[in-house]
Amino acid sequence: MKTIEVINRNVLGTVSEADINGLQARANEAMEKLHKGTGAGNDFLGWLHLPSETAEALLDDINATAKCFDDCEYVVAIGIGGSYLGAKAVIEALSDSFAAYKPADGPRVLFAGQNIGEDYLHELKGLLRGKKFGIIVISKSGTTTEPAIAFRMLREMLEAQEGKDFAAKHIVAITDAHKGALRKLATEEGYKTFVIEDNVGGRFSVLTPVGLLPIAVAGFDIKALIAGAKSMEEATAGAGNIAEKYAMTRNALYNAGKKIEILVNFNPKLHYFGEWWKQLYGESEGKDGKGIFPAAVDDTTDLHSMGQWIQEGERTIFETVISVGDAKYTEVIPSDEANLDGLNYIAGRRVDEVNKMAELGTCLAHVDGGVPNILVTIPELSEKYLGELIYFFEKACGISGYILDVNPFNQPGVEAYKKNMFALLNKPGYEAESAAIQAKLK
Ligand code: PA5
Repeated sequence: MKTIEVINRNVLGTVSEADINGLQARANEAMEKLHKGTGAGNDFLGWLHLPSETAEALLDDINATAKCFDDCEYVVAIGIGGSYLGAKAVIEALSDSFAAYKPADGPRVLFAGQNIGEDYLHELKGLLRGKKFGIIVISKSGTTTEPAIAFRMLREMLEAQEGKDFAAKHIVAITDAHKGALRKLATEEGYKTFVIEDNVGGRFSVLTPVGLLPIAVAGFDIKALIAGAKSMEEATAGAGNIAEKYAMTRNALYNAGKKIEILVNFNPKLHYFGEWWKQLYGESEGKDGKGIFPAAVDDTTDLHSMGQWIQEGERTIFETVISVGDAKYTEVIPSDEANLDGLNYIAGRRVDEVNKMAELGTCLAHVDGGVPNILVTIPELSEKYLGELIYFFEKACGISGYILDVNPFNQPGVEAYKKNMFALLNKPGYEAESAAIQAKLK
Protein backbone atom coordinates (compact mmCIF):
# COMPACT_ATOMS: atom_id res chain seq x y z
CA MET A 1 0.00 0.00 0.00
CA LYS A 2 1.29 3.45 -0.87
CA THR A 3 1.84 5.72 2.09
CA ILE A 4 4.24 8.37 3.30
CA GLU A 5 7.59 7.15 4.58
CA VAL A 6 10.43 8.59 6.65
CA ILE A 7 13.99 7.66 5.73
CA ASN A 8 17.00 8.79 7.72
CA ARG A 9 18.98 8.99 4.55
CA ASN A 10 22.12 10.63 5.70
CA VAL A 11 22.08 11.56 9.33
CA LEU A 12 24.49 8.92 10.61
CA GLY A 13 27.64 10.93 9.93
CA THR A 14 26.40 13.41 12.54
CA VAL A 15 24.56 11.17 14.97
CA SER A 16 24.78 7.43 15.51
CA GLU A 17 21.95 4.89 15.64
CA ALA A 18 22.70 4.76 19.36
CA ASP A 19 22.18 8.54 19.69
CA ILE A 20 18.78 8.22 18.01
CA ASN A 21 17.76 5.03 19.80
CA GLY A 22 18.94 6.55 23.06
CA LEU A 23 15.85 8.76 22.84
CA GLN A 24 13.49 5.78 22.61
CA ALA A 25 12.60 5.90 26.29
CA ARG A 26 11.80 9.64 26.00
CA ALA A 27 9.70 8.92 22.91
CA ASN A 28 7.83 6.18 24.77
CA GLU A 29 7.13 8.60 27.61
CA ALA A 30 6.00 11.22 25.09
CA MET A 31 3.62 8.74 23.44
CA GLU A 32 2.21 7.84 26.82
CA LYS A 33 1.75 11.51 27.73
CA LEU A 34 -0.14 12.08 24.49
CA HIS A 35 -2.28 8.96 24.64
CA LYS A 36 -3.03 9.07 28.36
CA GLY A 37 -3.27 12.86 28.47
CA THR A 38 -0.78 13.14 31.32
CA GLY A 39 1.65 15.71 29.86
CA ALA A 40 1.82 19.51 29.95
CA GLY A 41 -0.88 21.12 27.84
CA ASN A 42 -3.09 18.04 28.06
CA ASP A 43 -6.20 20.19 27.73
CA PHE A 44 -5.20 20.75 24.08
CA LEU A 45 -5.16 17.17 22.83
CA GLY A 46 -8.40 17.33 20.85
CA TRP A 47 -6.44 17.01 17.59
CA LEU A 48 -5.11 13.55 18.52
CA HIS A 49 -8.22 11.59 17.61
CA LEU A 50 -9.84 14.19 15.36
CA PRO A 51 -9.57 12.14 12.16
CA SER A 52 -11.21 9.03 13.64
CA GLU A 53 -13.77 11.01 15.61
CA THR A 54 -14.89 13.51 12.96
CA ALA A 55 -18.55 12.76 12.28
CA GLU A 56 -19.67 12.20 8.70
CA ALA A 57 -22.54 14.58 9.46
CA LEU A 58 -20.08 17.41 10.18
CA LEU A 59 -18.30 16.82 6.87
CA ASP A 60 -21.67 16.79 5.08
CA ASP A 61 -22.61 20.04 6.80
CA ILE A 62 -19.31 21.63 5.74
CA ASN A 63 -19.77 20.48 2.14
CA ALA A 64 -23.36 21.77 2.10
CA THR A 65 -22.23 25.10 3.56
CA ALA A 66 -19.52 25.37 0.91
CA LYS A 67 -22.26 25.05 -1.72
CA CYS A 68 -24.01 28.15 -0.32
CA PHE A 69 -21.20 30.17 -1.87
CA ASP A 70 -21.85 28.84 -5.36
CA ASP A 71 -23.45 32.11 -6.43
CA CYS A 72 -20.27 34.01 -5.47
CA GLU A 73 -17.28 34.78 -7.63
CA TYR A 74 -14.98 34.98 -4.60
CA VAL A 75 -14.94 33.77 -1.02
CA VAL A 76 -12.55 35.51 1.35
CA ALA A 77 -11.25 33.31 4.17
CA ILE A 78 -10.31 35.68 6.99
CA GLY A 79 -7.94 34.42 9.69
CA ILE A 80 -4.33 34.39 10.85
CA GLY A 81 -1.80 31.82 12.11
CA GLY A 82 -3.50 28.55 12.87
CA SER A 83 -6.77 30.00 11.57
CA TYR A 84 -5.22 30.51 8.13
CA LEU A 85 -2.11 28.50 7.31
CA GLY A 86 -3.59 24.99 7.16
CA ALA A 87 -6.25 25.89 4.61
CA LYS A 88 -3.78 27.96 2.61
CA ALA A 89 -1.27 25.08 2.58
CA VAL A 90 -3.75 22.45 1.40
CA ILE A 91 -5.43 24.67 -1.17
CA GLU A 92 -2.08 25.73 -2.65
CA ALA A 93 -0.84 22.15 -2.75
CA LEU A 94 -3.90 20.94 -4.66
CA SER A 95 -4.69 23.90 -6.90
CA ASP A 96 -3.75 24.56 -10.47
CA SER A 97 -0.88 27.05 -10.19
CA PHE A 98 -2.52 29.47 -12.57
CA ALA A 99 -6.23 28.99 -11.92
CA ALA A 100 -5.57 30.47 -8.46
CA TYR A 101 -7.87 28.47 -6.21
CA LYS A 102 -10.81 28.42 -8.56
CA PRO A 103 -12.66 25.14 -8.94
CA ALA A 104 -14.37 24.59 -12.28
CA ASP A 105 -17.81 25.65 -11.10
CA GLY A 106 -17.25 27.43 -7.82
CA PRO A 107 -15.88 30.59 -6.30
CA ARG A 108 -12.22 31.46 -6.01
CA VAL A 109 -10.87 31.43 -2.46
CA LEU A 110 -8.89 34.49 -1.34
CA PHE A 111 -7.30 35.17 2.04
CA ALA A 112 -7.34 38.21 4.31
CA GLY A 113 -6.74 39.03 7.95
CA GLN A 114 -3.34 37.31 7.88
CA ASN A 115 -1.58 40.68 7.86
CA ILE A 116 -2.30 44.37 8.52
CA GLY A 117 -1.27 45.54 5.08
CA GLU A 118 -3.25 48.61 4.10
CA ASP A 119 -2.33 48.24 0.44
CA TYR A 120 -3.23 44.54 0.56
CA LEU A 121 -6.71 45.37 1.88
CA HIS A 122 -7.13 48.24 -0.57
CA GLU A 123 -6.23 46.01 -3.51
CA LEU A 124 -8.47 43.21 -2.24
CA LYS A 125 -11.37 45.63 -1.96
CA GLY A 126 -10.58 46.80 -5.48
CA LEU A 127 -10.87 43.23 -6.75
CA LEU A 128 -14.12 42.59 -4.88
CA ARG A 129 -15.80 45.86 -5.88
CA GLY A 130 -18.94 45.14 -7.89
CA LYS A 131 -18.44 41.37 -7.54
CA LYS A 132 -20.53 38.91 -5.57
CA PHE A 133 -18.46 37.56 -2.73
CA GLY A 134 -18.80 35.69 0.55
CA ILE A 135 -16.77 35.62 3.75
CA ILE A 136 -15.56 32.84 6.04
CA VAL A 137 -14.29 34.51 9.19
CA ILE A 138 -12.17 32.29 11.40
CA SER A 139 -10.96 33.17 14.88
CA LYS A 140 -10.92 30.83 17.82
CA SER A 141 -10.61 33.65 20.34
CA GLY A 142 -12.86 35.86 18.26
CA THR A 143 -10.78 38.86 19.26
CA THR A 144 -7.58 38.72 17.18
CA THR A 145 -6.84 42.17 15.78
CA GLU A 146 -5.71 41.30 12.24
CA PRO A 147 -8.78 39.26 11.21
CA ALA A 148 -11.09 41.58 13.16
CA ILE A 149 -9.93 44.58 11.09
CA ALA A 150 -10.29 42.71 7.78
CA PHE A 151 -13.70 41.37 8.76
CA ARG A 152 -15.02 44.78 9.81
CA MET A 153 -13.93 46.29 6.48
CA LEU A 154 -15.11 43.47 4.20
CA ARG A 155 -18.40 42.96 6.03
CA GLU A 156 -19.16 46.67 5.66
CA MET A 157 -18.33 46.44 1.96
CA LEU A 158 -20.42 43.30 1.43
CA GLU A 159 -23.43 44.77 3.22
CA ALA A 160 -23.14 48.01 1.23
CA GLN A 161 -22.80 46.15 -2.06
CA GLU A 162 -25.36 43.37 -1.71
CA GLY A 163 -27.49 44.31 1.30
CA LYS A 164 -27.61 42.95 4.82
CA ASP A 165 -29.74 39.98 3.92
CA PHE A 166 -27.34 38.65 1.28
CA ALA A 167 -24.40 39.34 3.60
CA ALA A 168 -25.97 37.41 6.47
CA LYS A 169 -26.46 34.42 4.16
CA HIS A 170 -22.93 34.61 2.78
CA ILE A 171 -20.92 35.06 5.96
CA VAL A 172 -19.89 31.98 7.92
CA ALA A 173 -18.13 32.37 11.28
CA ILE A 174 -15.85 29.70 12.75
CA THR A 175 -15.14 30.43 16.38
CA ASP A 176 -15.50 29.38 20.01
CA ALA A 177 -18.85 27.82 20.98
CA HIS A 178 -19.68 30.53 23.50
CA LYS A 179 -16.97 33.15 24.04
CA GLY A 180 -15.56 36.09 22.12
CA ALA A 181 -16.70 39.07 20.08
CA LEU A 182 -17.12 37.01 16.91
CA ARG A 183 -19.48 34.53 18.57
CA LYS A 184 -21.57 37.45 19.87
CA LEU A 185 -21.69 39.15 16.47
CA ALA A 186 -22.52 35.90 14.66
CA THR A 187 -25.40 35.22 17.03
CA GLU A 188 -26.74 38.75 16.67
CA GLU A 189 -26.50 38.74 12.87
CA GLY A 190 -27.69 35.14 12.45
CA TYR A 191 -24.61 33.88 10.61
CA LYS A 192 -24.08 30.19 10.04
CA THR A 193 -21.35 29.09 12.45
CA PHE A 194 -19.00 26.21 13.11
CA VAL A 195 -17.30 25.62 16.43
CA ILE A 196 -13.59 25.36 17.20
CA GLU A 197 -13.45 23.09 20.20
CA ASP A 198 -11.63 24.36 23.28
CA ASN A 199 -9.24 21.42 23.21
CA VAL A 200 -7.85 22.08 19.71
CA GLY A 201 -5.16 24.76 19.45
CA GLY A 202 -4.96 26.95 16.35
CA ARG A 203 -1.91 25.30 14.78
CA PHE A 204 -3.52 21.86 15.19
CA SER A 205 -6.89 22.94 13.74
CA VAL A 206 -6.55 22.35 9.98
CA LEU A 207 -8.63 19.16 10.17
CA THR A 208 -11.52 21.01 11.88
CA PRO A 209 -13.95 23.36 10.08
CA VAL A 210 -11.15 25.98 10.32
CA GLY A 211 -9.30 24.30 7.47
CA LEU A 212 -12.02 22.10 6.05
CA LEU A 213 -14.55 24.78 5.05
CA PRO A 214 -12.16 26.90 2.91
CA ILE A 215 -10.74 23.68 1.44
CA ALA A 216 -14.24 22.47 0.55
CA VAL A 217 -15.12 25.86 -0.98
CA ALA A 218 -11.98 25.59 -3.11
CA GLY A 219 -13.44 22.38 -4.53
CA PHE A 220 -11.37 19.72 -2.75
CA ASP A 221 -12.42 16.46 -1.17
CA ILE A 222 -12.39 16.94 2.59
CA LYS A 223 -13.56 13.38 3.20
CA ALA A 224 -10.45 12.04 1.44
CA LEU A 225 -8.29 14.46 3.46
CA ILE A 226 -9.77 13.18 6.73
CA ALA A 227 -9.51 9.55 5.54
CA GLY A 228 -5.79 10.07 4.87
CA ALA A 229 -5.30 11.62 8.30
CA LYS A 230 -7.22 8.73 9.85
CA SER A 231 -4.94 6.16 8.27
CA MET A 232 -1.93 8.05 9.70
CA GLU A 233 -3.65 8.28 13.09
CA GLU A 234 -3.85 4.48 13.02
CA ALA A 235 -0.30 4.05 11.69
CA THR A 236 1.16 6.21 14.48
CA ALA A 237 -0.91 4.83 17.35
CA GLY A 238 1.59 2.21 18.48
CA ALA A 239 5.27 1.96 19.37
CA GLY A 240 7.98 2.22 16.72
CA ASN A 241 5.96 4.42 14.35
CA ILE A 242 7.30 6.92 11.81
CA ALA A 243 6.28 9.99 13.82
CA GLU A 244 8.41 8.73 16.72
CA LYS A 245 11.27 8.04 14.34
CA TYR A 246 11.20 11.57 12.93
CA ALA A 247 10.84 13.13 16.40
CA MET A 248 13.74 11.10 17.80
CA THR A 249 16.00 11.79 14.83
CA ARG A 250 15.48 15.55 14.85
CA ASN A 251 16.04 15.68 18.62
CA ALA A 252 19.24 13.63 18.29
CA LEU A 253 20.44 16.09 15.65
CA TYR A 254 19.49 19.03 17.88
CA ASN A 255 21.45 17.50 20.75
CA ALA A 256 24.41 17.21 18.36
CA GLY A 257 24.35 20.96 17.69
CA LYS A 258 22.06 21.07 14.65
CA LYS A 259 19.88 23.93 15.86
CA ILE A 260 18.10 24.74 12.60
CA GLU A 261 15.86 22.43 10.59
CA ILE A 262 15.11 23.39 7.02
CA LEU A 263 12.01 21.84 5.48
CA VAL A 264 12.81 21.45 1.81
CA ASN A 265 10.44 20.88 -1.07
CA PHE A 266 11.11 20.44 -4.76
CA ASN A 267 7.53 21.25 -5.69
CA PRO A 268 6.40 24.89 -5.74
CA LYS A 269 2.92 23.84 -4.64
CA LEU A 270 4.35 23.01 -1.21
CA HIS A 271 5.52 26.52 -0.34
CA TYR A 272 2.67 27.14 2.09
CA PHE A 273 2.95 23.64 3.49
CA GLY A 274 6.36 24.82 4.67
CA GLU A 275 4.74 27.91 6.22
CA TRP A 276 2.18 25.75 8.04
CA TRP A 277 4.94 23.41 9.26
CA LYS A 278 7.02 26.37 10.47
CA GLN A 279 4.16 27.57 12.66
CA LEU A 280 3.44 24.06 13.93
CA TYR A 281 7.00 23.43 15.08
CA GLY A 282 8.00 27.02 15.87
CA GLU A 283 5.08 27.73 18.20
CA SER A 284 5.15 24.27 19.71
CA GLU A 285 8.86 24.01 20.50
CA GLY A 286 10.35 27.50 20.63
CA LYS A 287 10.08 28.23 24.35
CA ASP A 288 11.94 28.02 27.65
CA GLY A 289 15.11 29.08 25.78
CA LYS A 290 14.98 25.92 23.66
CA GLY A 291 13.78 24.59 20.33
CA ILE A 292 14.97 23.82 16.82
CA PHE A 293 14.52 26.89 14.61
CA PRO A 294 12.19 25.85 11.76
CA ALA A 295 13.01 27.27 8.34
CA ALA A 296 11.81 26.29 4.87
CA VAL A 297 13.03 26.54 1.30
CA ASP A 298 11.47 25.89 -2.10
CA ASP A 299 13.98 24.16 -4.34
CA THR A 300 15.34 24.37 -6.90
CA THR A 301 14.28 28.06 -6.73
CA ASP A 302 16.03 28.72 -3.43
CA LEU A 303 19.18 26.83 -4.42
CA HIS A 304 19.90 29.97 -6.42
CA SER A 305 19.56 32.17 -3.34
CA MET A 306 20.04 30.10 -0.18
CA GLY A 307 22.03 27.25 -1.72
CA GLN A 308 25.41 28.80 -0.95
CA TRP A 309 24.60 29.23 2.75
CA ILE A 310 23.20 25.73 3.05
CA GLN A 311 26.22 24.20 1.30
CA GLU A 312 28.95 26.12 3.12
CA GLY A 313 27.56 28.31 5.89
CA GLU A 314 27.63 27.64 9.64
CA ARG A 315 27.16 23.89 10.18
CA THR A 316 24.20 24.16 12.53
CA ILE A 317 21.54 22.98 10.09
CA PHE A 318 19.88 19.80 8.96
CA GLU A 319 17.32 19.30 6.23
CA THR A 320 14.03 17.44 6.07
CA VAL A 321 13.10 16.93 2.44
CA ILE A 322 9.50 16.32 1.42
CA SER A 323 9.83 14.30 -1.75
CA VAL A 324 6.72 13.96 -3.90
CA GLY A 325 6.54 10.71 -5.89
CA ASP A 326 4.57 11.36 -9.04
CA ALA A 327 3.93 14.61 -10.85
CA LYS A 328 0.28 14.91 -11.88
CA TYR A 329 0.94 15.71 -15.51
CA THR A 330 3.56 14.68 -18.08
CA GLU A 331 5.74 17.28 -19.78
CA VAL A 332 8.65 16.10 -21.91
CA ILE A 333 11.64 18.23 -22.88
CA PRO A 334 11.63 18.56 -26.67
CA SER A 335 14.53 17.80 -28.97
CA ASP A 336 15.98 20.71 -30.95
CA GLU A 337 18.04 20.20 -34.07
CA ALA A 338 20.22 23.27 -33.55
CA ASN A 339 20.75 22.41 -29.86
CA LEU A 340 22.13 25.88 -29.23
CA ASP A 341 21.17 25.62 -25.55
CA GLY A 342 22.94 22.24 -25.31
CA LEU A 343 19.89 20.59 -23.80
CA ASN A 344 19.55 17.68 -26.21
CA TYR A 345 21.18 15.36 -23.68
CA ILE A 346 17.92 15.50 -21.72
CA ALA A 347 15.57 15.71 -24.69
CA GLY A 348 12.76 13.18 -24.46
CA ARG A 349 12.98 13.06 -20.66
CA ARG A 350 10.30 14.28 -18.33
CA VAL A 351 10.73 17.59 -16.48
CA ASP A 352 10.03 15.67 -13.29
CA GLU A 353 12.96 13.34 -13.95
CA VAL A 354 15.29 16.35 -14.14
CA ASN A 355 13.72 17.69 -10.94
CA LYS A 356 14.26 14.35 -9.18
CA MET A 357 17.93 14.32 -10.21
CA ALA A 358 18.25 17.89 -8.90
CA GLU A 359 16.72 16.67 -5.64
CA LEU A 360 19.06 13.70 -5.32
CA GLY A 361 22.10 15.72 -6.41
CA THR A 362 21.25 18.42 -3.87
CA CYS A 363 20.87 15.93 -1.07
CA LEU A 364 24.23 14.30 -1.84
CA ALA A 365 25.96 17.68 -2.12
CA HIS A 366 24.48 18.93 1.15
CA VAL A 367 25.36 15.73 2.98
CA ASP A 368 28.93 16.05 1.67
CA GLY A 369 28.83 19.62 2.96
CA GLY A 370 27.87 18.48 6.46
CA VAL A 371 24.09 18.88 6.32
CA PRO A 372 22.30 15.73 7.55
CA ASN A 373 19.23 14.80 5.60
CA ILE A 374 15.92 13.23 6.60
CA LEU A 375 13.68 12.22 3.72
CA VAL A 376 9.88 12.22 3.97
CA THR A 377 8.31 10.71 0.87
CA ILE A 378 4.72 11.31 -0.21
CA PRO A 379 3.40 9.30 -3.18
CA GLU A 380 1.62 12.25 -4.82
CA LEU A 381 -0.07 15.54 -3.98
CA SER A 382 -3.64 14.47 -3.27
CA GLU A 383 -6.11 15.02 -0.47
CA LYS A 384 -5.43 11.57 0.96
CA TYR A 385 -1.66 11.93 1.18
CA LEU A 386 -1.82 15.53 2.40
CA GLY A 387 -4.12 14.28 5.16
CA GLU A 388 -1.49 11.68 6.04
CA LEU A 389 1.30 14.23 5.95
CA ILE A 390 -0.54 16.75 8.12
CA TYR A 391 -1.33 14.21 10.81
CA PHE A 392 2.18 12.76 10.63
CA PHE A 393 3.75 16.15 11.34
CA GLU A 394 1.21 16.95 14.08
CA LYS A 395 1.83 13.67 15.87
CA ALA A 396 5.59 13.98 15.52
CA CYS A 397 5.37 17.54 16.85
CA GLY A 398 3.60 16.42 20.01
CA ILE A 399 6.15 13.65 20.57
CA SER A 400 9.09 15.92 19.76
CA GLY A 401 7.90 18.67 22.11
CA TYR A 402 7.67 16.24 24.99
CA ILE A 403 11.11 14.76 24.17
CA LEU A 404 12.42 18.34 24.31
CA ASP A 405 10.62 18.75 27.62
CA VAL A 406 8.46 21.74 26.72
CA ASN A 407 4.70 22.16 26.66
CA PRO A 408 4.07 21.74 22.92
CA PHE A 409 0.55 23.13 23.12
CA ASN A 410 0.90 26.65 24.49
CA GLN A 411 2.30 29.84 22.95
CA PRO A 412 2.83 32.37 25.76
CA GLY A 413 5.42 34.31 23.74
CA VAL A 414 2.87 35.37 21.10
CA GLU A 415 1.27 37.85 23.53
CA ALA A 416 4.31 40.13 23.88
CA TYR A 417 3.88 42.01 20.58
CA LYS A 418 0.14 42.32 21.10
CA LYS A 419 0.61 43.96 24.50
CA ASN A 420 2.98 46.54 23.01
CA MET A 421 0.75 47.16 19.99
CA PHE A 422 -2.31 47.72 22.19
CA ALA A 423 -0.31 50.03 24.46
CA LEU A 424 0.94 52.03 21.45
CA LEU A 425 -2.62 52.28 20.07
CA ASN A 426 -4.00 53.38 23.47
CA LYS A 427 -6.45 50.49 23.66
CA PRO A 428 -8.84 50.95 26.61
CA GLY A 429 -7.61 48.84 29.51
CA TYR A 430 -3.95 49.33 28.56
CA GLU A 431 -3.44 52.75 30.20
CA ALA A 432 -0.54 51.67 32.43
CA GLU A 433 1.21 49.85 29.56
CA SER A 434 0.68 52.90 27.30
CA ALA A 435 2.36 55.18 29.83
CA ALA A 436 5.22 52.74 30.32
CA ILE A 437 5.87 52.25 26.62
CA GLN A 438 5.73 55.98 25.89
CA ALA A 439 8.29 56.55 28.64
CA LYS A 440 10.50 53.88 27.08
CA LEU A 441 10.32 55.56 23.67
CA LYS A 442 11.36 59.02 24.97
O1 PA5 B 1 -1.79 28.57 16.84
C1 PA5 B 1 -2.34 29.51 17.38
O2 PA5 B 1 -2.95 29.39 18.43
C2 PA5 B 1 -2.31 30.87 16.75
O3 PA5 B 1 -1.57 30.89 15.58
C3 PA5 B 1 -3.71 31.31 16.42
O4 PA5 B 1 -4.30 30.40 15.53
C4 PA5 B 1 -3.72 32.72 15.82
O5 PA5 B 1 -3.11 33.60 16.70
C5 PA5 B 1 -5.13 33.16 15.55
O6 PA5 B 1 -5.90 33.13 16.71
P1 PA5 B 1 -7.46 33.17 16.65
O7 PA5 B 1 -7.94 31.99 15.91
O8 PA5 B 1 -7.90 33.18 18.08
O9 PA5 B 1 -7.84 34.46 15.94
